[in-house]
Amino acid sequence: MMRVLTITILILISTAVFAIKNEQHTSTSLTKAVTITTNLHFTGKYCTECHLKTPVEGEDTLLKFGGNFNQLCWCHIATPGEYIHPVDIEPSEDKKVRIPEDLPLQNGKMSCLTCHNIYMQCQNNFEYQMSNKRFLRGFPYAHRTDLCFRCHDEKKYKMLDPHNQLDENGNIVVKKCLYCHVEKPDENSATYSSTKLHFKMVNFVGSLQALCERCHGKHNHPANVNHLLKPSFEILAMIKASERKLGAVFPLAKNGKITCATCHNPHEKGVIPDSNPASTGAGKNKRARLSVAKELCFACHDLDQM
Ligand code: HEC
Ligand code: HEC
Ligand code: HEC
Ligand code: HEC
Ligand code: HEC
Ligand code: HEC
Ligand code: HEC
Repeated sequence: MMRVLTITILILISTAVFAIKNEQHTSTSLTKAVTITTNLHFTGKYCTECHLKTPVEGEDTLLKFGGNFNQLCWCHIATPGEYIHPVDIEPSEDKKVRIPEDLPLQNGKMSCLTCHNIYMQCQNNFEYQMSNKRFLRGFPYAHRTDLCFRCHDEKKYKMLDPHNQLDENGNIVVKKCLYCHVEKPDENSATYSSTKLHFKMVNFVGSLQALCERCHGKHNHPANVNHLLKPSFEILAMIKASERKLGAVFPLAKNGKITCATCHNPHEKGVIPDSNPASTGAGKNKRARLSVAKELCFACHDLDQM
């Protein structure tokens, strides 16, 4: 009787010790053996970095951390908020109907596995590794954005629209300013026009025209005429007179030439205070500083000569 009890106790102790050892093994392998620079994908090894036990295909995936990708993909989530795509969110109604079946959600939410076929990298498969290093679902795509447009409406897609500068609460989205400005200008005091009694000049990340052309391509307009030139003295005088008369601005490039922003206001309405003439045209049709049909041309051109 006594013997049986001793054996039982011994067994219990040894399993407990084994469990502790096991626990230690996993935690040391996470912090020591595998570091942020280890590429454990497509190796056919390191199964227990992500799985509690090696799973069987088609059965429970036995993922560690309850399958939480923030913890599983800890090498990549080291800088939260930096990743290109939001996860852990439930798609809006209009996305829900668009999301194709081969881009699965996880518990109804966007997840790493929605776009990445993670099981693909569980295998030691050189061919997959070479052809589809990021194990993206539906690979290959001619353009990276082709994947995006499987869920996002290409036309409605405003993510890269640097002119959408305010969030739902009307607050400035600083990141948007940095598409064009070196640092976020103070909307109340920074200025482009040196004649104003403000102190801080706005700075740009490059030539303004090149900046606009990066997304919009080259333009030969309006009226199919190249307007990106230095205005004559007469037109310059006309521009100055119009600015005074209409309370608008027609900013020229630093080299004195007409540039895209001379006619278009790149800012969303509400960024530049309405009391500042530089706000004219913000959010208007074609982002034109003045109504295209009625006023814009006449800010520079004499009615008689047109
Ligand atoms: C980097 C983390 C990681 C590593 C390393 C890893 N796996 Fe996985 N594995 C996952 C994830 C995450 C899933 C779940 C994927 C899903 O649900 O789409 C998974 C799924 C699986 C599945 C289930 C596939 C299915 O659909 O039935 C098997 C089997 C599997 N892994 C085996 C392995 C084996 C064997 C190894 C080691 C050679 C390994 N994994 C290494 C993360 C990993
Ligand atoms: C909406 C689809 C989508 C989701 C969701 C997604 N990814 Fe990606 N992931 C991509 C695309 C597209 C690439 C870029 C592939 C390329 O450029 O070759 C990528 C690339 C990566 C890379 C390669 C390094 C890099 O930044 O280019 C890592 C690492 C990565 N993803 C991890 C994750 C993790 C972790 C999650 C979950 C938090 C996740 N991904 C969620 C689409 C997605
Ligand atoms: C599987 C579908 C899917 C794919 C593929 C996808 N997205 Fe998304 N994306 C979503 C969902 C869902 C949201 C959350 C907002 C919503 O539901 O409308 C979202 C939101 C975003 C947002 C946040 C702003 C917004 O529109 O709410 C950005 C930025 C974004 N996606 C960029 C991308 C990029 C870039 C790619 C391609 C690399 C991509 N998406 C691919 C489904 C997808
Ligand atoms: C697409 C490019 C672009 C983006 C994005 C952009 N700006 Fe500008 N910004 C310009 C250009 C061009 C000018 C000079 C012409 C003008 O005044 O509109 C300018 C001028 C300004 C001025 C000076 C106005 C004046 O009185 O002369 C302020 C202030 C300003 N920007 C603030 C911002 C803020 C804040 C953001 C972010 C919400 C932002 N900008 C985003 C292109 C941009
Ligand atoms: C990062 C890319 C990007 C940059 C840089 C950029 N834009 Fe845009 N712009 C867009 C997008 C996206 C839209 C919205 C597309 C749409 O819905 O027509 C847009 C819309 C416009 C429109 C309105 C077009 C229409 O049909 O109503 C004008 C005008 C314009 N931008 C001028 C400019 C000027 C001027 C600059 C430089 C100061 C500039 N953009 C810089 C991406 C950009
Ligand atoms: C002299 C004024 C003027 C200048 C300079 C100017 N635009 Fe325009 N832009 C207009 C007018 C007016 C329209 C609307 C009618 C038209 O398309 O001719 C327009 C239309 C647009 C549109 C709407 C889409 C389209 O093609 O109809 C975009 C985008 C645009 N301009 C971008 C630019 C960019 C980028 C530059 C600089 C390379 C630029 N504009 C220079 C006056 C101007
Ligand atoms: C910011 C000033 C400015 C605006 C606004 C402007 N233009 Fe011009 N336009 C010029 C300059 C400068 C020239 C070059 C010829 C010159 O110096 O007389 C020019 C040339 C032209 C020409 C060629 C004819 C000629 O005299 O050489 C036409 C046509 C024209 N513009 C039409 C338009 C139309 C239509 C609009 C309105 C949609 C418009 N412009 C808006 C400044 C402007």
